Amino acid sequence: MRNIILIGFMGVGKGSVAREVIKHSDYIAIDTDDLIESMQNRKIKNIFQTDGEAYFRKLEKDVALWLESSVKNTLISTGGGFYKQKNLKKIATVVLLDSPFDAIIKRIKSHPNATRKLKKRPLLQDLEAAKKLYDERRPEYLALADVVIDVTNKSAQECSKELIKKVKKYA
Ligand code: S3P
Repeated sequence: MRNIILIGFMGVGKGSVAREVIKHSDYIAIDTDDLIESMQNRKIKNIFQTDGEAYFRKLEKDVALWLESSVKNTLISTGGGFYKQKNLKKIATVVLLDSPFDAIIKRIKSHPNATRKLKKRPLLQDLEAAKKLYDERRPEYLALADVVIDVTNKSAQECSKELIKKVKKYA
C-alpha cells in the first residue's frame, strides 16, 4: 500500500481521523509532531520557545527525508505546516482534511480539553494571526492534495470511511 499523508490546518482533526483509519485498515499510523517530540525529548511548545520556528521546520525536514527513505504502508498525520516539505508527493498520496477557519476553531473550543489543545499550539495563540495563516495556506493545501475531504460537521468515523474509499485508486 502506498503511504497516505494527512495534511490540513491545526485543529482540523488529523489525529482523530488517523486513529479511525487504522481501526478499519491495515495501515500503521505515525505522527510527525510525535516523532519530533520523541527525537527531541521535549514538547513542540518548548522547541518553539527555546529554539524558534525555523529550527522546528528543520526538524520537520529531517523527518520528511526519513519518511521518504524508510516508511511504507503507513498513514502519516502531520503538523499543519509540514505540507511545505518539498518531497511530500514522493512520500505518499496526499489527503487534505479541509474545513473553514471558524468551524476549526469551534471544533477545538468544543473539545473537553480545549484549553490544553489551544495552549500546546504556538501558532494558535493569536487567532487573528492564525486566520491570516489559514488564508495563506488554504490554496497551497488545495493545490497539493490528491484527495480532499471536507470534514465540517462530520465525525472522525465518517471522514475515515470517505478517506479509505477515496484513496483506493492511489493505492
Ligand atoms: C503547526 C502545527 C502544529 C505543530 C506546530 C506547527 C503549524 O501541529 O506542528 O505547532 O505550522 O501549523 P497541528 O497541526 O497538529 O496542530
